[in-house]
Amino acid sequence: MATVTFLGHACFEIRSGGTTLIVDPFLSGNPKAEAKPADIKADYVLVTHGHGDHWGDTEEIARTNDATVIGCYELASYAGAKGLKTHALHIGGGHDFPFGRVQMTSALHGTGADAAAQVYTGTAGGFLITVGGKTIYHAGDTALTYDMKLLGDFHKVDLALLPIGDNFTMGIADAVRAVGFIKPRTVVPMHYGTFEIIDVDPEEFAAEVRKQTTSIPAVLHVGDSLEI
Ligand code: NI
Ligand code: MN
Repeated sequence: MATVTFLGHACFEIRSGGTTLIVDPFLSGNPKAEAKPADIKADYVLVTHGHGDHWGDTEEIARTNDATVIGCYELASYAGAKGLKTHALHIGGGHDFPFGRVQMTSALHGTGADAAAQVYTGTAGGFLITVGGKTIYHAGDTALTYDMKLLGDFHKVDLALLPIGDNFTMGIADAVRAVGFIKPRTVVPMHYGTFEIIDVDPEEFAAEVRKQTTSIPAVLHVGDSLEI
C-alpha cells in the first residue's frame, strides 16, 4: 500500500514502506500550497518536466534531503550540473529502484527550465510508479493522447493523477476521455485552480467521471491524503 498526499498543483507526496517520493514540488511559488520546501522530507524527487510549476523547489528539497532527482536525461543533467544526485530516465524506459519501479511515459507538452537562460530540459513526460504493490500514473502536463490507451490495456493502474485545468493541458472533457483510456481504479484531478487561467471546477470533472466511466473520482484539497 501507499499513502498519497496532494500538496497543490501537480505536486504529490507518495509514502510507502519507509520511502518518500515527491513529484513536481512546486511549493514556494504556489500561492495555494501550504507546505514549505523546508518541511519536505523526501528520498526521491521525481520531475515530469522543467517548467517552473513542476521543477519548482526541486533544487532546495533534493539538496536538503540528499535526495535523488529522477527525470528525463536532459533534466537530470540540468540537476546534476547543480550538484544534485540524479537518476536519468527517458520516455518508455523504466528502472527498478529499491522502493519499486518508475517508468517514464510520454506527454504531449513543452519543457524548459530556467526561463531567463532558456535552458532546454528535454522532453516532457509522466511517470508510471509502482510502489507498495500499487501502480500510480502521474501524467505530468499533457494533452489527451491515444498512447494513454496503452496504459489501460497493459497495466492495472490503481491511481491516476490527471491534469484538468485546460489552456496548458487537457481540459475536463479530454481528461474524462483519458480516464476511459487508462481505466484507473481511482482518479485524482490536478493542475487546476492554481492560476486564474486554469480555474476549472474539479467537481464537474468528478461528476463526468462518475457518469461516463467506471473509475472512482477523488477530489483532494491541498493537504489531503489518500490510502491506496
Ligand atoms: Ni508545463
Ligand atoms: Mn504545468
